Amino acid sequence: MKILLSDKKNVFDKKITGISFSEKISESKFVIKDGLQILEIKIPKKEKINWRQAALIPRSIIATAKKHQIKKIALDWPDIEAMKMGNSQDVAESFGINFEMANYEFVAFKTKPKEGWDFIDEIQIFGYEKNDIKNALKKGQIIGQETNACRELSNMPGGEMTPEILVQKTEKAIKNTRIKMKVLDEKEMKKINMNAVLAVAKGSVEKPKFIILEHFGAKNKAEKPVVLIGKGVTFDSGGLNIKTGNGMADMNMDMSGGAAVVHTLILASKLGIKKNVIGLVPAVESMPSGESLRPGDIIKSMSGQTIEVQDTDAEGRIILADANTYAERYNPSLVVNVATLTGAACVALGERASAIFSKDEKLTDLFKKYGEESGDHVWPLPLWEEYEVEVKGINGDVCNIRNRANSRDGGAILGAIFVYQFAKKFPQWIHIDIAPRMVSVFDEFLSNGAAGAPVRLLIKLLEK
Ligand code: BES
Ligand code: ZN
Ligand code: ZN
Repeated sequence: MKILLSDKKNVFDKKITGISFSEKISESKFVIKDGLQILEIKIPKKEKINWRQAALIPRSIIATAKKHQIKKIALDWPDIEAMKMGNSQDVAESFGINFEMANYEFVAFKTKPKEGWDFIDEIQIFGYEKNDIKNALKKGQIIGQETNACRELSNMPGGEMTPEILVQKTEKAIKNTRIKMKVLDEKEMKKINMNAVLAVAKGSVEKPKFIILEHFGAKNKAEKPVVLIGKGVTFDSGGLNIKTGNGMADMNMDMSGGAAVVHTLILASKLGIKKNVIGLVPAVESMPSGESLRPGDIIKSMSGQTIEVQDTDAEGRIILADANTYAERYNPSLVVNVATLTGAACVALGERASAIFSKDEKLTDLFKKYGEESGDHVWPLPLWEEYEVEVKGINGDVCNIRNRANSRDGGAILGAIFVYQFAKKFPQWIHIDIAPRMVSVFDEFLSNGAAGAPVRLLIKLLEK
């Protein structure tokens, strides 16, 4: 989508429909002003606007234009400026991001209609032409496009997004960036005792991959990096503890954390972020078969700690254990885990915020703040020491579910506490359970399917 800025007001032609904002109308409607067709779009009252609603305005513009099959639209910058959301660049960046996010749909497997897709081709913003705004809009678009690329990976059906394909897609996506990529295969993983990742992958004919991405943006190459770890379960059937009923639906998206890490690194490279950032994605498929991991099996993880598997469906935390151990070799300043880890996080928070877990209160507050500003909302749950007894193993060191039989209580917390057992050496550690934000909510003007969390939050973090 092209976004053009102009200081002239006479940009309308027959192919372009103007849009104006109104607090008074209850639904979008066409009006004729000065002989021009203007689409009026409902916005919240100015005094009530916050970042949450500000993100919805550009999205509703796109959604409304799509509904009316308008390809080119024009907006008045003073209208946008009047919302007083903060400084003009922040507003422009947010508009750039959300225009792009609303203009995305997963059409890779659909036949193109004769009249073409109803995506918006062009937006003209007039009444303002300054480089700072132009640049902020452009930057917003890049962030939006990369978030969409993350959504595209997540939306892929399980059969089209195996660990192998994730590697290929990542290789392709990092072309034209300066990211270094390494991939460990099964043999290399065996050599370094990455047994937890291998154990989860055992039941599938698809071989596991461990993806390593490196962005050295700091002046000093030796500067301690931020390590981002993303759960890359390309399909979560549950394994021998197979998911029942509708539980397996959307489990092609169980690599959403991995996709977010891949595209955050690409963004860091594209935006020239002056930090060292490492991305780690353990990629596996979890399937039931004669070779599967069994309930009761005990895995000797890469850290040396043994994992007692009481439920093969709690597989994400098992692969994250080894990924965190692997991260130690980078001597990181901060480690961030991103994973669609538990259905329990959805029970706790609904669909509108990811759950975050950290021992560091300042870091937690920072994530809340960046979450609010970026639109990737997060909310903290406890990571207290007291919970640790609940994941003590009976025959092994740690148990991968709550060790009081048949209890689902505190599921999101226990997932986090389990992974934390492998992350105690890091100076700062935070885990984001993005299961609640895996797919979009009906009223946020995004297409159904993957929501792209938390790419926008992570890039804000790396920028600051
Ligand atoms: N990938 C799922 C969690 C999930 C569920 C993400 C729904 C998004 C939407 C995870 O691997 C899982 O199966 N977790 C179990 C854990 C349980 C066995 C302790 C769960 O949430 O039920
Ligand atoms: Zn699972
Ligand atoms: Zn899973």
